Parts: sequence; structure tokens; C-alpha cells
Amino acid sequence: MNAKCFCLFACVCAFGAENGRALYDNYCIACHWKDGSPANGGADLRQPLKHGRDLKSVVRVITFGVPGTQMPGFSDLSENQRRALAKHVLDLNHKAQSKQK
Ligand code: HEC
Repeated sequence: MNAKCFCLFACVCAFGAENGRALYDNYCIACHWKDGSPANGGADLRQPLKHGRDLKSVVRVITFGVPGTQMPGFSDLSENQRRALAKHVLDLNHKAQSKQK
């Protein structure tokens, strides 16, 4: 496989499959660490979520942000990307919650 071919493959994987973790590492890491713990005043995504715990609510928070806080909206991202991010957040949250039990 030549380099060009590999790059195409990697790009398709990263964007085509909407890799929630990669998107999170890119857009969210400034305020929420990898494990969901708060960075720079961001919310702790390991705690029970304040703004809704189902996929739809989390997608809404990611799309519009939380007005009056530092949480920005990401309406520029595609719906699939926001959904992948929300799934990743819920995944982090559920993992943290089951550890606390
Ligand atoms: C500039 C800092 C910043 C960035 C970047 C950021 N957030 Fe936030 N986020 C916050 C803050 C601050 C809050 C707390 C809002 C509040 O007080 O309700 C928050 C809250 C949230 C919540 C709601 C938590 C709850 O308890 O319901 C979710 C979900 C969330 N962020 C996901 C994300 C995702 C996903 C990204 C990346 C796409 C992201 N955030 C990027 C600062 C940020």
C-alpha cells in the first residue's frame, strides 16, 4: 500500500465512521479531559449529567452549548459528528458511573 492510499484510508476511518473519541480529543479536550474529568473550568462528565442523560439531550448540549457558561455550541459539526460525540460522552459517563458503584 503506498502512502497516498494509506492516507485516504485513514481519513475515511477518522471522518467517515465519525470516530467520537477522535472528535472529542480534538474539540473538547481543552475543557473536558479524556476521561471526562473537568479541565479549565469545564464540567465533570463523569458525574450524573445535569442537562440530560439520553443521547438526544447530550446532542442538544453539544449543538447549542450551555448559554451563560463557557460550554460552546458545535453547530458547525455535522449531525453524525455530534451524535458520535454524544455517544462518546455517554460512554465515558456510564463507565465512570459503574466504577463508582
Ligand atoms: C471552552 C470550554 C469548553 C469546551 C471546548 C467544551 N466544553 Fe463542554 N462544558 C463546558 C462547561 C463550562 C460546561 C458546564 C456548563 C454548566 O455549567 O452547565 C460544559 C458542559 C458540558 C456538558 C453537559 C454536562 C452535564 O452535566 O449535563 C456536556 C455533555 C459537554 N460539556 C460536552 C462537551 C463536548 C462533547 C465538547 C466537545 C465537542 C465540549 N463539551 C467542549 C466547557 C467546555
